[in-house]
Amino acid sequence: MVRLRGARVDAVPVWHRESVVSSKSRAVGTTGGMTGPLAAASSAVGITFDDPALEAAVRTCLDGVESALRDAVISADPVLGEVARHLVDAGGKRFRPLLVALAAQFGDVRAPHVTRAAVVVELTHLATLYHDDVMDEAPVRRGAASANARWGNSIAILTGDYLFARAADIAADLGPEAVRIQSRTFARLVHGQIAETVGPRESNPIEHYLQVIADKTGSLIGTSARFGAMFSGAPPPVVEAVAAYGDTIGVAFQLSDDLLDIASDSAESGKMPGTDLREGVPTLPMLYALADDAADAGSTRLREILGHGPITDDAVVVEALDLLRESAAMKRARETVRGYAERARAQLAQLPDVPARHALESLADFIADRSA
Ligand code: IPE
Ligand code: IPE
Ligand code: MG
Ligand code: MG
Repeated sequence: MVRLRGARVDAVPVWHRESVVSSKSRAVGTTGGMTGPLAAASSAVGITFDDPALEAAVRTCLDGVESALRDAVISADPVLGEVARHLVDAGGKRFRPLLVALAAQFGDVRAPHVTRAAVVVELTHLATLYHDDVMDEAPVRRGAASANARWGNSIAILTGDYLFARAADIAADLGPEAVRIQSRTFARLVHGQIAETVGPRESNPIEHYLQVIADKTGSLIGTSARFGAMFSGAPPPVVEAVAAYGDTIGVAFQLSDDLLDIASDSAESGKMPGTDLREGVPTLPMLYALADDAADAGSTRLREILGHGPITDDAVVVEALDLLRESAAMKRARETVRGYAERARAQLAQLPDVPARHALESLADFIADRSA
C-alpha cells in the first residue's frame, strides 16, 4: 500500500465481486466501514483519503452524483428505464466523477455545477459503454450481463442514445461552453472508436493505437478533469494544468485497461478477459509482440497467432493470453503506462501544494500499478 499525504493508494482494487452474468442489481460498494459512492470509487479506483476535509468534500460530491444519476436515467418507458438503470446499478468505478470531484478541490467543490458536470461525464461514459459492448460483442460489463447480451443490440444502442440525450440535457444547465466541450469530447471519442474499427491502414500501428486511445478514452477523462476545475471556479491556468493531466492519465487508464484485458480475470475486471484478442483489436502488448523479432518458440508462436486478426477458438485465446502474460512485450507495455503516469504527475507540478494535488498524484500511480 502506498501512503501519501493527500491520499492512500491500495494495491488491489476490489470491485464487481458479484457473480458474472448476473442480472441482480448491485448497489455501490462498501469498504472498510465506508459506505456509499466514495467507498465504491475509492475501493475500485484504489484511493482513499487521509485528509478528512478532502474526504468529506469528495464524499458529499459523489453522494450527490449518485442520486442525480439515478434521477437522470428515469424514463416514462418502463423498458428504457430498466435498461438505462441496469449499468448504473451494476456499479462501476465512477472514475470520471471522482476526477471531477478531485479537480474541483482547486476551487469551490460545493459550487452547484460541479455535481451536474460529474453527472454529465458519467452519463456520457455510460452511453459509450452500451455502444462499445455492442461493437465488441462483449457479454459482461460491470460484473453483470451486458445490455446487448440481455436485451439485444437494438435496445442496447437505443439506450446508449438515450443516455447521450440525457447527458446533453443536463449539460445545457451548465451553459453553452459546457455543451460545446461535451459535444466536441464526444465527437473526438467517436473518431477514436471509428479509427480503432478502421485500423491503421498505411500509418504506423503503434502511433495509430496511441492516437485511438487518446481520442476514445483520454478525451472524456481530460474533460472530466477540466469540468471539475472549471465549474469550481479555479483560475484558468489551473484548469489547463488539470485538464492536461486528465488527458495524460486518460491514456494511461486505457493502456492499463488493455493490459487488464490480458492479465486479469473476470471477477477482478467485471469484464470478459481476452475480448480484444477475440475482436482482433490490437492493443499495445500485442503490437509490441508483433514488432519483436525474438526467435524463441513462445515469441514466434505469439506472432503467428496475433498475425491472423480476430481469434475465434477459445483454446487459442487462452494460449495467446498465457504467452502474452509472460512476454517481454507485456513488460514493455507496463513501462509505457508508467511513463504516462510519470508525465501526468509532472503536469501537476505547477499546481498548489494541497491534498487534492497529492490525491491526483496517487491516482496516476494507481493507474500504473493496477495493471503491474
Ligand atoms: C471502461 O471504463 C472503458 C474504458 C474507457 C477503459 P471504466 O474502467 O471506467 O469502466 P467502469 O465505469 O468502471 O465500469
Ligand atoms: C472502450 O474501449 C472505450 C470507450 C467505451 C469509448 P474498450 O473496448 O477497450 O473498453 P472495455 O475494455 O470494453 O471497457
Ligand atoms: Mg470494449
Ligand atoms: Mg471497444
